[in-house]
Amino acid sequence: MTVSLGTPLTSTATRALLLGSGELGKEVAIELMRLGVEVIAADRYAGAPAMQVAHRARVVDMLDARALRALIDLERPHLIIPEIEAIATDVLAAVESTRLATVVPTARATQLTMNREGIRRLAAEDLGLPTSPYRFADSRDELEQAVAAVGVPCVVKPVMSSSGKGQSVVRSVDDAAAAWDAAASGGRAAGTRVIVEGFVDFDYEITQLTVRHSGGTVFLDPIGHVQVDGDYRESWQPQAMTEAALAEARRIAGAVTQALGGFGVFGVELFVAGDRVLFNEVSPRPHDTGLVTLASQDLSEFALHARAVLGLPVPDAGMRGPAASCAVLAEGSGVPVFSGVDDALARPGTDLRLFGKPRVDGRRRVGVTIARGDSVEQARATARAAAEALTVELVEG
Ligand SMILES: Nc1ncnc2c1ncn2[C@@H]1O[C@H](COP(=O)(O)OP(=O)(O)OP(=O)(O)O)[C@@H](O)[C@H]1O
Ligand SMILES: [Mg+2]
Repeated sequence: MTVSLGTPLTSTATRALLLGSGELGKEVAIELMRLGVEVIAADRYAGAPAMQVAHRARVVDMLDARALRALIDLERPHLIIPEIEAIATDVLAAVESTRLATVVPTARATQLTMNREGIRRLAAEDLGLPTSPYRFADSRDELEQAVAAVGVPCVVKPVMSSSGKGQSVVRSVDDAAAAWDAAASGGRAAGTRVIVEGFVDFDYEITQLTVRHSGGTVFLDPIGHVQVDGDYRESWQPQAMTEAALAEARRIAGAVTQALGGFGVFGVELFVAGDRVLFNEVSPRPHDTGLVTLASQDLSEFALHARAVLGLPVPDAGMRGPAASCAVLAEGSGVPVFSGVDDALARPGTDLRLFGKPRVDGRRRVGVTIARGDSVEQARATARAAAEALTVELVEG
């Protein structure tokens, strides 16, 4: 099959609708624009990062099925590219089944991964992949039973949540009630089903970026990362692994991405202890820890996603060598202003993305430094130093 691409803003255009317009969507938008795709960026607030680089912006509540359907009918995109999990995915299933648009990677993948129960049961029960032991609970009492069954320590998470929201570590059955309350306030939807997972004492955790494209499947070098309070702070590539652990990581990533299907980048999150690898979860889209690929690969995860979703081949990503990323956080309320940008960029091999988030309320990631180095250790030190050279002030805009 030959792939043809039109010209934006004409009747020939190849149109892509981004559902979610954060910093990852912004990079995807830029890569799509480089290939002459017409990009429409949607999110629930105005001025979101990807909106600033797209042909058009649409403000819509993506959990509102009618509003989402109306947007799709209005824009008639060829591709619908979710950037977040909180979407009325039934609409995507209907759109896919009538062939109105291609949902990236598939509507079923968006449905299974928006809920921890869907993806966990697929991985552990249908595919037989190794995971932490787990139980589900719908009430305080059930949670206590689930904690007793799984054993302590364990981790309690709302089935619908991301970025660590509503999660807690339970160290004794007495903590179960507090964990239930934390989940109830941190989950995305009412009802608050929770998953109880055995706490995994891993040596390190990785993201195994996996690209499904028209010519096959590519596994990128493993990305190591550090998480604090449910958000990633540093990532690096490649993470050193034993041959056996790497083979197992790729077996698991291959199985789960094949089951989800479609074309695009997947971020398969894995816990590693010795040669043992456990599946945690998977994003059917570029992963935040994969921001490091802006420095470590000729084709970043965003460029690879753009290629793959357009049906283009991905012969390889062009590995450049060790690199690292370091998140730049802001806490408080206001509009970010960055100083020390000159200092941050003074070290050779350093780069920076400032996301352009219109406002911060609470603690948010507002930028990332990325650095190359002779070794992962050196790249990490450089990325950290660059982040420390930056000061973020929140002002009244
Ligand atoms: N069962 C577990 N045992 C040990 N650590 C865990 C466990 N589950 C989660 N963690 C830690 O918490 C982090 C976040 O958990 P998880 O990926 O399930 O949540 P999330 O809210 O989907 O995060 P994100 O959306 O940022 O990927 C993991 O990357 C890991 O560091
Ligand atoms: Mg995660």
